[in-house]
Amino acid sequence: MSKEKMKRIYICQSCNYRSFKWLGRCPDCGVWNSFTEEIETCASGISLNAGGCPERMSEIATRAEGCRIITGIKELDRVLGGGLVPGSVVLLGGEPGIGKSTLLLQFLGHISGLGNKVLYISGEESPEQIRMRAERLGIEMGGKEDFWLAGEVMLERIERYVSELSPMFLAVDSIQTVICEDLESAAGSISQIRESAARLIRMSKPRGLSVFLIGHVTKEGVIAGPRVLEHLVDTVLYFEGERGHAFRILRTVKNRYGPTHEIGVFEMTGAGLREIVNPSEIFLTSRSEAVAGSVVTVCLEGTRPMLVEIQALVSRSYLANPRRTSTGFDANRLAMLVAVGERHLGTVLYDKDIFINVAGGLRIIEPAADLAVLMAIVSSLKGIPIPGGTALFGEVGLTGEVRAVTMSGARLNEAARLGLKCCLIPWMGGKQSDTPKGLGVEFVRDVKVCAERLGL
Ligand SMILES: Nc1ncnc2c1ncn2[C@@H]1O[C@H](COP(=O)(O)OP(=O)(O)OP(=O)(O)O)[C@@H](O)[C@H]1O
Ligand SMILES: [Mg+2]
Repeated sequence: MSKEKMKRIYICQSCNYRSFKWLGRCPDCGVWNSFTEEIETCASGISLNAGGCPERMSEIATRAEGCRIITGIKELDRVLGGGLVPGSVVLLGGEPGIGKSTLLLQFLGHISGLGNKVLYISGEESPEQIRMRAERLGIEMGGKEDFWLAGEVMLERIERYVSELSPMFLAVDSIQTVICEDLESAAGSISQIRESAARLIRMSKPRGLSVFLIGHVTKEGVIAGPRVLEHLVDTVLYFEGERGHAFRILRTVKNRYGPTHEIGVFEMTGAGLREIVNPSEIFLTSRSEAVAGSVVTVCLEGTRPMLVEIQALVSRSYLANPRRTSTGFDANRLAMLVAVGERHLGTVLYDKDIFINVAGGLRIIEPAADLAVLMAIVSSLKGIPIPGGTALFGEVGLTGEVRAVTMSGARLNEAARLGLKCCLIPWMGGKQSDTPKGLGVEFVRDVKVCAERLGL
């Protein structure tokens, strides 16, 4: 450390902008009073190379092949791209109280049950509190388990524990609490987070140690600290869920070793997180009779089709600017669909408040739900229910056409599996995907045809 060059620098705690003198307002992100003085070493951050000589790629590839660790939690394995790659560093982010520590503890419990040595470092809870939670989650503690706990925040000591214990897995809850003594800035500051994470990663790579870091998220919903933290790690997972719902969704934001569009679905219970293998069954509320304003769609999360109920409520507005509120669906897309409805279906919506809700607390990102959202709005406006057992999916274009979406075959199979009778889907230029038995499939070219077919 003493040999490394040190320099004094002012860093914006909001966006990581660097300046050699103090500034009242950050010229980059515009936040006031965000600069703090920090001393940093030139070695800070980067250079994670273990320092090996060049090797032939073919030799390296054979060594690394087929050695993913199955974590024992199927939904987590799916999100990681089929298991955890040994020596990888995973950052788990999420809002306070969403269940990050619970997920981590359950995962470590499984892994240690398989005979691996794990070390859990917590700067937020005492070992006694973690033990209490472990008891609630039913983690086996026979006295011989290789599950080690430490309530610690000093990076230097964490490094010492790792070299003394040589665990297979290290979990740090949370990276914002870790303090590196070499830096003068406070715990949780950008320099501290970056330096601590970089040193943990540097330590892990040559040892083949897998590291799980928990990261807090800011008000804006991004992991607190600079984006550089997300660049340093191999995988970034977000744990999310709506307040008041027991369902939690684990989403990949970045993955160096697998796809980034898979999700894992869990339910928070008293005994911890329960995996939901069939998400359609929970996102589809159980109702026998059809009601106006409710439409079932099949959305795709990664490679996984899910049946979801979209609800719309259209009511007379008493405001100069009528409300357009959506939960779980993009507000800009909703505005576009309202315009398409006015123009191509002749529905009068300028004096109506419109509320959209995706049942079960799911967030739909793909445009395949467009058709269902638009039909739910029209259905609510006219008070005419969509026939029961019907699902719709398709992207709606500005000219009112219904556009094809990916993986319609998988969507149809899921609809048939859950006993739906009929699916209205986009016209695919004469290409007919194999339709599952018992499911009537009708093609609709534009929103007008679709509304007429539904009797709206
Ligand atoms: N006995 C219980 N029964 C049911 N759910 C519980 C019970 N105890 C805790 N929970 C759930 O666990 C959640 C807290 O989980 P956890 O501590 O893992 O969250 P966290 O994301 O680590 O939070 P923080 O950011 O504060 O560390 C609570 O919000 C609650 O939903
Ligand atoms: Mg926690």
